[in-house]
Amino acid sequence: MCGIVGYIGQKNAQEIIVGGLRKLEYRGYDSAGVAVLTENGLAHDKAKGRLAELEALLEVKPLEGTAGIGHTRWATHGKPSRENSHPHLDEKQKFAVVHNGIIENFLSIKEELIAKGYKFISETDTEVIAHLLADLYDGDLESTVRQAIKKMRGAYALGIMSEYEPDKLIAARLASPLIVGIGEGEAFIGSDIPAILEHTRDVYILNEGEMAVLTRNGIELSVAETGEKIERDIFHVEWDLVQAEKGGYDSFMLKEIYEQPQAIRDTMGSRIDVDTNKVVLPEIKMSAEELSQFNHIYIVACGTSMHAGLVGKEVIEKLVRVPVAVEVASEFRYRDPIFTDKTLVVVISQSGETADTLAALREAKKSGVKVLAITNVVGSSVAREADEVIYTWAGPEVAVASTKAYTCQVISLYLFALYFAQVKGTQSDAQIAEITTNLLELPGKVAEILENPEAIREFANTLTDVTSLFFIGRGLDFAVTLEGSLKLKEISYIHSEAYAAGELKHGTLALIEDNVPVICLATQPDIYEKTVSNIVEVIARGARTLGFAVAGDEELGKTVDSVIHIPQTLPFLSPVLSVIPLQLLAYYASAARGLDVDKPRNLAKSVTVE
Ligand code: M6R
Repeated sequence: MCGIVGYIGQKNAQEIIVGGLRKLEYRGYDSAGVAVLTENGLAHDKAKGRLAELEALLEVKPLEGTAGIGHTRWATHGKPSRENSHPHLDEKQKFAVVHNGIIENFLSIKEELIAKGYKFISETDTEVIAHLLADLYDGDLESTVRQAIKKMRGAYALGIMSEYEPDKLIAARLASPLIVGIGEGEAFIGSDIPAILEHTRDVYILNEGEMAVLTRNGIELSVAETGEKIERDIFHVEWDLVQAEKGGYDSFMLKEIYEQPQAIRDTMGSRIDVDTNKVVLPEIKMSAEELSQFNHIYIVACGTSMHAGLVGKEVIEKLVRVPVAVEVASEFRYRDPIFTDKTLVVVISQSGETADTLAALREAKKSGVKVLAITNVVGSSVAREADEVIYTWAGPEVAVASTKAYTCQVISLYLFALYFAQVKGTQSDAQIAEITTNLLELPGKVAEILENPEAIREFANTLTDVTSLFFIGRGLDFAVTLEGSLKLKEISYIHSEAYAAGELKHGTLALIEDNVPVICLATQPDIYEKTVSNIVEVIARGARTLGFAVAGDEELGKTVDSVIHIPQTLPFLSPVLSVIPLQLLAYYASAARGLDVDKPRNLAKSVTVE
């Protein structure tokens, strides 16, 4: 995930900024840069790769000055490269910008600016901000930034400076986190607390739509669009550095679970056109004709990514009526799959480096089959070798147990399925609009679930001595139970199995006896009654049941021992919601057993061996 550091004061800005960026290295990045106001004006340098690369450049040619901004980039729009790294500057190099997040309408702003003669040198959405500031500048940096913000849609945390007003830094926030630090005769900007913790523990946390103007004499907060002044209490940070890296959460996994509303919003980003309610995927290079000729899809992946694929299968088949087979990559590569010239292979990988997935991709390409990758890491092996790439913009995932990557993979599969349906004309505009409208509501609904974890925590606390449990569901609920079960066993070491609820009676029902916990998902209306019948079967054998139902369902609670409701949405979008409590369940079960949630035994984050 990108990191921002800014400084204005009396000290050497370059040193403070690079030191702050180093504290953000744990978040992952692929390039770094810094801009400083020097005697000769705004100067900057940047480098692809580790911070050490940037430091080597700065050693040869230091940027002397006491105000500056810096950035570590995790690529989204455009590959990792020097050109794409931040800060971005306008053509006359009078404005410098660092940015986290995504400007959803950057393409239309870029077109306007190109029409006015502005020249772009990077592939990023951020560069439009620098040119936009130059275009709008009215002699007052603050009001220029406000005007620019009014034109931008999306998610951003911004650090801005200008040679025209050298004694000022501007920080602004919409959706991406940003803080400003208070010092004596100095002030700081940070995307995260660790970036500035060495220098100050007194910060203002910017809220949505707020802006801060930093000078050596103090910090002024205001509403970004209107300029209305804001009074804010100082937040005194009590955390140590390790706690701060986890954003105050106990583990990276919990932090990443709570990042999901933002990650999902970023992944949908500019891909849903809110004017037409359609999906736009400019990253897909193949033509509509080429895409629409595919009549068979293999989705190939491992672990959690494969489970996302199971949701994708249901969705693509429902919306496009093209058959989809989901395959475990380690099996697929050795089993001589049937390829035709109308086969598309979709590989899914958070890391983009999983050996089995990569080998499956290569097998497909060797047979001349087109490969579309869904991955979280720009420039990863999977991304480089696939013909087409859709990135999940989840940001780096540190915990071994994958959470936000899964929900973003599922979102990407919805987007792909909708795009495919648009191209093939298998859904009407009204149907597409209904789905995209509901998709856009998902981040808020995920946040709603995350606000109420207590019932899940209570249930998890009852599992400390449990040795085995079951998850059941049908259809899409079954796909989600597979993920819930993997998550639980992976970090709590409790043996668990996910079963298609209707299949239990063909053998596994023999394992259900008094007090065996069974977690039952019943969110799918078309098979609801059948699912409830299966739940009744396990209850009759003594199972202790926790049910998941959709808000408004007053029935399931009469059958199971306890019930948790998830917000309403279109039934086929519910996996993005129902998986959240299952992730929390795994987390709390692991924490209650005193285990290392982030680094479970025997497992690695990226499995680069066969
Ligand atoms: O990086 P990938 O998505 O290719 O990784 C695949 C699996 O190794 C991964 O999803 C694994 O199952 C997770 N640790 C599960 O939480």
